[in-house]
Amino acid sequence: MIKATGLVALAIALVPFVNAAAPEWGQCGGIGWTGDTTCVAGTVCTVQNPYYSQCLPGTSVPTTTAPASTSTVPSTTTTSGSSTTTAPAPPASTGFVGVSGQKFTLNGATYPLVGANSYWVGLMGYSTADMNQAFADIAGAGGTTVRTWGFNDVTSANGIYYQLWANGKGTVNTGSTGLENFDNVIAAAKANGIRLIVSLTNNWSDYGGMDVYVSQITGTQNHDYFYTNASVIAAFKSYIQIFVGRYKDEPTILGWELANEPRCRGSTGTSTGTCTTTTITQWASEISAFIKSIDSNHLVGLGDEGFFNDPGNPSYPYQGSEGIDFDANLNISTLDFATAHLYPESWGETSDPVGWGSQWIIDHQTSGQTANKPVILEEFGVTSDQSSTYTTWYDTIISSGLTGDLIWQAGSHFSTGSTPDDGYAIYPDDPVYPIESQHAAAIKARG
Ligand SMILES: *[C@@H]1O[C@H](CO)[C@@H](O)[C@H](O)[C@H]1NC(C)=O
Ligand SMILES: *[C@@H]1O[C@H](CO)[C@@H](O)[C@H](O)[C@H]1NC(C)=O
Ligand SMILES: *[C@@H]1O[C@H](CO)[C@@H](O)[C@H](O)[C@H]1NC(C)=O
Repeated sequence: MIKATGLVALAIALVPFVNAAAPEWGQCGGIGWTGDTTCVAGTVCTVQNPYYSQCLPGTSVPTTTAPASTSTVPSTTTTSGSSTTTAPAPPASTGFVGVSGQKFTLNGATYPLVGANSYWVGLMGYSTADMNQAFADIAGAGGTTVRTWGFNDVTSANGIYYQLWANGKGTVNTGSTGLENFDNVIAAAKANGIRLIVSLTNNWSDYGGMDVYVSQITGTQNHDYFYTNASVIAAFKSYIQIFVGRYKDEPTILGWELANEPRCRGSTGTSTGTCTTTTITQWASEISAFIKSIDSNHLVGLGDEGFFNDPGNPSYPYQGSEGIDFDANLNISTLDFATAHLYPESWGETSDPVGWGSQWIIDHQTSGQTANKPVILEEFGVTSDQSSTYTTWYDTIISSGLTGDLIWQAGSHFSTGSTPDDGYAIYPDDPVYPIESQHAAAIKARG
């Protein structure tokens, strides 16, 4: 979008004289950072990762390891070695899921991560009884973990929504059709012994997501402004501050995910043309560090499809063309676990989808082993030959040592009707259901 460039340039030139120091919670350093490197009084510039330093409250270098803190600011108690660490809180007696090497842990034991996706549980206006049944069905198949959407960005108030946008500004809905509804999701999961992975926005335009932020704030359709425009990043952080802040002491949350399937390009195919894997890696570093700064209890993942960045590779998901570099993102210290999705049919891998998928699983486990971080196949699906395909992939998950998996997607038959089916949903009366149960038992037995 062309604007009064002369004026903008003048405004930018004046900024350093106006802003002598970065604000509390603001960025103060990192690769590519050209802004202020000093912080306002009462805050300290603290390295979160190579891409992101941030002004945290305190007068000395704070630690972010204290898990029991109920305050929103990281503990600033005396630091013995004054070393700054962004490691996740130890699981111990807090009851929060942690990580150790490639395993998830809970109270000193391995936490077996297996279950399903249920993006819809907190979006459709379901009753608490229906929410309970949804989680009970997944637990009944041996699932421990459910991944769901913690966002719905709308431009007109209707049904359940979490953020209402108008005139370039988002307002979080904290009422009964908003976060109070999500409180009910958490209570229902907890009642059924389920832990939640919660995605905080969507690459896809379903339920709003990135494209709503971008069009509202920049007035353009350039999908990748979500990762680079400072006003958009600030708006996403404001949402995170409220959503994550509300649940930071809630052990039912297993972890936060930055986004569902982040990619450079949007639905209109519009982008600035400058987005590369580095763009999303840098964004993921900044946002994950921000989440850690307000919530040291919970794990953080990216929520990407797990594409590799090997430009000469003949296979599309290995080429890095969508802006994801799985190995580079594994190196981000403020991401605790890595994710991969698996849809050979939609990725053009149709000659041997089953075998291709098994190799995809093995390749991700190989990378995870090198980085010594858990890797989960957090979405997978085919629409035909489901039983034989999933049997093979489950065998590969167990034999390769991949940390865990969540099928796309859970289905339930409520008295009020059945949950959404996009061709992948597995309901309790489906022949695939017993295969899921056997697999959950195998993951648990593996320890
Ligand atoms: C972000 O978008 C806004 C609105 O279009 C614009 O004023 C601002 O200059 C952009 N910022 C950056 C860093 O591109
Ligand atoms: C990213 O989002 C756009 C819609 O906003 C969609 O067209 C594109 O294919 C999406 N990619 C994925 C799989 O996330
Ligand atoms: C990840 O970090 C390792 C160890 O520092 C390094 O050898 C490797 O090149 C990094 N990978 C990527 C893709 O950045």
